[in-house]
Amino acid sequence: MQKNGHKVLITGGGRGIGRALTTRFIDAGNDVIVIGRSQPADLPTGAIFIACDLNDRVARDDLIEQVKSAHRDLSVLINNAGLQHEGNFARDWHYDDYASEMETNMDAMIHLCDGLFPLLEAAPQAAIVNVSSALAIQPKQDAPIYCATKAFVRSFTKTLRYQLEGSSIRVFDLVPPLVDTDMTRGRGTGKISPEDLATIFWKAWLANREDIYVGKAGLLNMINRLSPRLASRIVRHG
Ligand SMILES: NC(=O)c1ccc[n+]([C@@H]2O[C@H](COP(=O)([O-])OP(=O)(O)OC[C@H]3O[C@@H](n4cnc5c(N)ncnc54)[C@H](OP(=O)(O)O)[C@@H]3O)[C@@H](O)[C@H]2O)c1
Repeated sequence: MQKNGHKVLITGGGRGIGRALTTRFIDAGNDVIVIGRSQPADLPTGAIFIACDLNDRVARDDLIEQVKSAHRDLSVLINNAGLQHEGNFARDWHYDDYASEMETNMDAMIHLCDGLFPLLEAAPQAAIVNVSSALAIQPKQDAPIYCATKAFVRSFTKTLRYQLEGSSIRVFDLVPPLVDTDMTRGRGTGKISPEDLATIFWKAWLANREDIYVGKAGLLNMINRLSPRLASRIVRHG
């Protein structure tokens, strides 16, 4: 992919992984539109912010219309915003807690891919980047809906890639391991920083490597190929 000259829309670009990607794209000479529910005080200089609650279908329709009228030169869509709830079906299952997780992690991604497709199709070089997770390879016991949504993201991304073969749109699956962000605060060890993840992403982006396994996600993928049972044991308890 070319290094600069893109107009990028990134969901959840104000914090965590999204913020590190936003900074990387801006520093390389791209224009970036950040989507989130509320504008962060420290939005990277040069980014444009559009407020949208991605759980709200009508708000997503409005966002798509706004981008179609003001940013017709959009060439990169990064579906990064995501939520993770931990819970147990047997003890504390409440469907309402999980509905927003499904809406943000899956529906919003599909809706934006669909709604913004005409702009991407018209760009000379375009890309869709969907952020899945190492937990899409094997699930952990405490996050049943999250892991299932990320497996969905992975599968959807792969078929989208098949369907867009031969077009000017490349389709990337960014597969992070445990990253040190608000989402993982107080959980896990051996996390990588969002900035290190962005560095690995950037190399893969420039090299057109569409499956981007970051750090331990790559190792897990390899183990899973050789022994799914071992990979499952490693991930099960997080
Ligand atoms: N951190 C990890 O270890 C890890 C590992 C694998 C995959 N991932 C994936 O990487 C992506 C980013 O994760 P992160 O760790 O950077 O998360 P994070 O620090 O919790 O940030 C989440 C971002 O998503 C936005 N967001 C959440 N719900 C939204 C909604 N309803 N509408 C609009 N924006 C919304 C938030 O913005 P507002 O709060 O302003 O709305 C925020 O910018 C997610 O898809 C996650 O599943 C993370």
